[in-house]
Parts: sequence; C-alpha cells; structure tokens
Amino acid sequence: MMEKLDSLRILTLAENTAPFGGSLLGQHGLSFLIEGKSEQATLQVIMDVGQDYDALCNNMEKLNVDVGQIDAVVLSHCHYDHTSGVAALLTQTKKRGVPVIAHPHIFRAHFINTPVLRHVGIMEGNNMQSLVAAGGQPFLTRDPLPLMPGLTTTGEVPRITSFEESVLKVFTINEGNVFRDSMPDDISLVACIKGRGLVVITGCSHAGIINIIKQAFSLYPGEELHVVIGGLHLEGAGSERITKTVEELCSFRPDLVSAGHCTGFDAQVAFYNVLGDRFVPLSAGAEFIISK
Ligand SMILES: [Fe+2]
Ligand SMILES: [Fe+2]
Repeated sequence: MMEKLDSLRILTLAENTAPFGGSLLGQHGLSFLIEGKSEQATLQVIMDVGQDYDALCNNMEKLNVDVGQIDAVVLSHCHYDHTSGVAALLTQTKKRGVPVIAHPHIFRAHFINTPVLRHVGIMEGNNMQSLVAAGGQPFLTRDPLPLMPGLTTTGEVPRITSFEESVLKVFTINEGNVFRDSMPDDISLVACIKGRGLVVITGCSHAGIINIIKQAFSLYPGEELHVVIGGLHLEGAGSERITKTVEELCSFRPDLVSAGHCTGFDAQVAFYNVLGDRFVPLSAGAEFIISK
C-alpha cells in the first residue's frame, strides 16, 4: 500500500467549538470534509456528520461545501454525535449509491448508563434501511478499505498498548444479554502524502490513538507520522494515561497535532506543553492543507 497522495485538504465542518465572532456554529460532534488529490484522481469524502444537521448545514454553506460533490461518507464509529444526520446528508447529495463506509458492527445496540441508561449509538432515522433509502450504499468491512491510492481507512484497530483501555463505559446487547462494549467499530482514516508522511484523521480514537497510529504504520511501513487530527477521547482519562499517551505520540515526532471534540482540556494542555505551536486545538472551520 505504498501509493501516495499529492495533497490532502481537511476542512472541519463540525466541532464542539467555533471561532469567536464568525458565523460558524459549534455543536457536540465532529465532521470533516476530506479531499485527496493524486495525479490520477480527486476524491471528496465526508467523515462523520456530527449530531446537529442544521448546524452542519450552516457550516457547509458558510464554508462553500457543495454536498453534491461528495463521493463517499465514512462513519468513524456508531456514536450519535458522529452519525446523526447521515441520512439527511445522503438525501441532500441527490445521488444514488453513495458509499457509506463503516465497520460491520456499527448498527448494534450501544448503551451508556451514566447519568441514566440510554442508547448512544446510531439513531433510528440513520439505520441501515434509512441510509439505503436515502441513496447510500453501505460498505461494511472490518478490513482497511483503500478509498484511493494513498488514502485508506484503518479498518478494525488491533488493541496493542497496555494503557489505552476505553475511557467510556459502554454496553451492547446480544440475544438479550448485556456485555461491555469494546467499540470494535472505531475506525480512522490514514493518508500518505508525497514528501510529508502520514496524516491520521480520527473520530474519537476509542481504539486508542497510539493503537491507531501503530495501525497506520503497519499500513504504510517505513513512513513517518506527519499530522494527527481529530478527537482523542482523553476526556475523563487519568493523568497517568494522558502522560503516557502524550509521551508516546510525541515520540513519533509529529509536525502537527490538532485535537479537539472529546480530547479534553487536560490532554490538550499536556500536548501543548510538549509540542508548543505544533499543537492546535481543533474548532469548526479549521482547515489543513498538506502537500508535497
Ligand atoms: Fe464523539
Ligand atoms: Fe465517540
């Protein structure tokens, strides 16, 4: 898998924060427009759609995003704050057969019990049937799925590290029985850019950001880590977990980490203390253009 992109553009369509004084809206959720370019092809993908479709639409309009140009949708995991509105988005493309790329377990029952028991996975209006009716074509796979040469999903991420157990206590149901949910559906995107290296784009990193980066290295052996963008879900993590994560991620010497959404203030500060201006808090409208 050594083909590379000439350039990658990442535009943040939804995030928990929005810049001061602008017309963009924040929401508890995450969404990116990702545009890969090589000599042969250009591909526009939306990864995740947040949970407030009106706020997402506002930002897409203000950021001049033409929904009709989208080639595929990637859902990083089942959480409602990443997937609510995906049927509406597919309808708005006015296309049929738009690939919706996700893990095969993404539509499972997925519950949290704090402060009260409730479903936090994909909501009814965005289930498999709704996505197909809206013009989507589900591409469900555990394996890495190349979207174009130099841009791939991670597929299911092997849990290798000793310190990245999920911060979230979540549950699933199988034949009426309740089980702790390990979130096998957590996938990310990896791009390999000519002359730059790897760009890792995450939803919430429920698989653990170090596990995700190691999966990126195994997909592109010999490549260096260039950029990490997305949610790192260290909100609520203990200081030991945050310290180990920051140490190990920074040992890969990334040129930029832009983390927000569920990363948490403590982890953002910890990254800033090590990386200085190579760390940027993520917010709606944040744009990253990476080229050779
Ligand atoms: Fe999230
Ligand atoms: Fe999440």
